[in-house]
Amino acid sequence: MNICVIGTGYVGLVTGVVFSDLGNEVVCVDSDKAKIAKLKRGIPTIYEPGLKEMLQSNIEDQRLSFTTNLSEGVNKSEIIFICVGTPQKNNGETNLSFVESAAREIAGNLREYKIIVNKSTVPVGTGDLVREIIEKNKKYQVDFDVVSNPEFLREGSAIKDCLTPDRIVIGVPNKKVANRFLELYSPLERPMLITDVNSAEIIKYASNSFLATKISFINAIADLCETAGANITDVAKGMGYDSRIGREFLNAGLGYGGSCFPKDVHSLVHTAKKFGLKFNLLENVIQINDQRVDFFVGRIEKRFKKLKDKTIGILGLAFKPDTDDLREAKSIEVIQKLLAKGARVKAYDPVAMESARKILPKVEFCKSSYDAAKGAHALIIITEWREFKLLNLERIKNEMACPVIFDGRNMYDPERKRRLGFEYYSIGRK
Ligand code: UDX
Repeated sequence: MNICVIGTGYVGLVTGVVFSDLGNEVVCVDSDKAKIAKLKRGIPTIYEPGLKEMLQSNIEDQRLSFTTNLSEGVNKSEIIFICVGTPQKNNGETNLSFVESAAREIAGNLREYKIIVNKSTVPVGTGDLVREIIEKNKKYQVDFDVVSNPEFLREGSAIKDCLTPDRIVIGVPNKKVANRFLELYSPLERPMLITDVNSAEIIKYASNSFLATKISFINAIADLCETAGANITDVAKGMGYDSRIGREFLNAGLGYGGSCFPKDVHSLVHTAKKFGLKFNLLENVIQINDQRVDFFVGRIEKRFKKLKDKTIGILGLAFKPDTDDLREAKSIEVIQKLLAKGARVKAYDPVAMESARKILPKVEFCKSSYDAAKGAHALIIITEWREFKLLNLERIKNEMACPVIFDGRNMYDPERKRRLGFEYYSIGRK
């Protein structure tokens, strides 16, 4: 099929690359000239395992192209995916201005029947809004349909998630469009749910908010475990064996970050408010998540009495492993609080340091974990990169001024750490 993808952020770029890999002709459109120039040369603009190879091979096979010219993309395609950013406004509401302007531009270039798809995460009612905008701004008397096909990919495993999704949700206005989508996605051989547009829009927010709820729930239980002298790892394991609960997203720690959960939970609370409902449960989920860093930094401060002139080594800056994304990363919050208390901060992350330099100018960036540990009074684990599990801890201890570890992601076995001579603090464990 001929496909146009508008927006080459995380969702747009991965969607475009994967659709082309499945044999479709794909044109990716973005107004950012520098980005398009890079992508045309086969250079990925985000760090994502497997992306570079797939991008380059599909450009070579001439199934995948990039342009800043939206009209060219729209004219060539039958299905147009809107994958632009949907950031958060100060009041928690989703800012739909990029979706609205994409819809206006599509309308101006609509010369024959097309299917327009919202793939970006957008609140319920956005499908209707896009339809109204196109109807109002189209220049020719042509028909079109609007579909909601939310994306569930995770950063760090985006290609894999796109190729083997747990489910494909397709919100359609009629059977004819449903059949085109069943055909488009049939090579993946994954479960597909055909529903109405509004339900598809809500499925995405409900899913992300539910996962965020699991995380805040387990974090609240972790606090109880710590006070009551229990072990959160065993508690999560014990709960997770129940197939109705499941073990995933029950990892206690510094809380959820990233470009989706914080924004989506706020947005759902706002949507509920718009419909006259108060979503108390999600307000508590947000509150629990917001308190995680204060609690963690408070504990570091308690251990040292004063943080002024203490050297703190940070391991991990990205909001989660296998990405260089720092959006809503807990590292930024932790580091800013430590700096405000007068600590000197050194940090290491396998891939996120380049972007971190711009946000955290007062931090000393290190070449390795050992470098970050050198002279440190405490080492703090913020992102659970696999390479931190494989560290030579004897060497780490020798580098440090004081062998204290605060583990914000429960990466290590407390008993083992103590045997090695560390003073080790983790989350929800004695
Ligand atoms: C999420 C959804 O998983 C994905 O389906 C959606 O399309 C986009 O949002 P992503 O933000 O890439 O994906 O990351 P995810 O792996 O879900 O983690 C989100 C945050 O939750 C991270 O900060 C992570 O550290 C945290 N988390 C996750 C926990 O604190 N504990 C857990 O058990 C799991």
